Amino acid sequence: MMLAGAALAAPAALAADGKALYARCVACHGAQGEGVAATGGPGIAGTEAWYLERQLQNFATGLRGSRPDDTRGQSMRAAALTLATGAERQAVAAHVAALPRPRAANVAAPTVAGRNYFNAICSACHGSNGLGNEKLGAPRIAGRSPAFLAGELAAFRSGRRGAQDGDRLGAQMRAIVAMLPDATTERDVIGYAASLGQ
Ligand code: HEC
Ligand code: HEC
Repeated sequence: MMLAGAALAAPAALAADGKALYARCVACHGAQGEGVAATGGPGIAGTEAWYLERQLQNFATGLRGSRPDDTRGQSMRAAALTLATGAERQAVAAHVAALPRPRAANVAAPTVAGRNYFNAICSACHGSNGLGNEKLGAPRIAGRSPAFLAGELAAFRSGRRGAQDGDRLGAQMRAIVAMLPDATTERDVIGYAASLGQ
């Protein structure tokens, strides 16, 4: 019983610290992590802590957000660099992961083509429900906003994301994006992913 109590206390302590650190994020991601369209900061509430932590580290090391043509990523990299230690990244990630995940707004009904393509390609890593797979490093994409999903696919395609030396997981997504046959398929598959988990 003592052990269980100690195990429960640790995440709460992390979340308290993370809440204070999260003040630095509010301007771009919103008080509840719902995203702020004007700044390009996506909704991040309820994203798994392991993925948040890895992305914060990617921004800090420059694997993500260091390319001159990536102005959005650069603004995020500046914020990530204010987190001084892995413990700070962990604490703020725990806080964000615990925020309630909003539903994507105005998601159109998914198409059969989108579902088929998703199940044929994306589900291998992101899961048939789009909930992600930590072992493969693939995040939840279910219910993310279509604008966010389209923006990230465009970033992978252009190499703003995933093309830096050492970004093994980003490189995987670049290879996948290169396989998407056309804009219609991309729109369909984004629509399907956004509709999952609604
Ligand atoms: C100046 C605005 C700004 C601030 C401040 C900021 N961010 Fe961001 N953040 C962004 C933008 C813009 C993106 C999208 C970057 C991209 O698409 O590559 C982003 C992306 C992210 C991502 C990646 C999401 C994903 O699914 O790929 C995470 C995680 C994140 N921010 C966390 C934070 C945290 C935690 C803080 C506070 C310590 C913070 N951000 C502060 C603008 C900001
Ligand atoms: C081979 C495994 C694999 C497949 C197949 C795959 N992905 Fe990914 N995906 C990943 C990994 C790993 C990441 C995390 C990349 C990183 O760490 O920057 C990712 C990241 C993403 C992101 C960024 C999400 C975020 O929050 O930053 C989007 C969007 C995405 N994938 C969409 C798709 C779509 C749509 C498909 C199908 C067309 C697909 N993926 C197929 C492995 C895969």
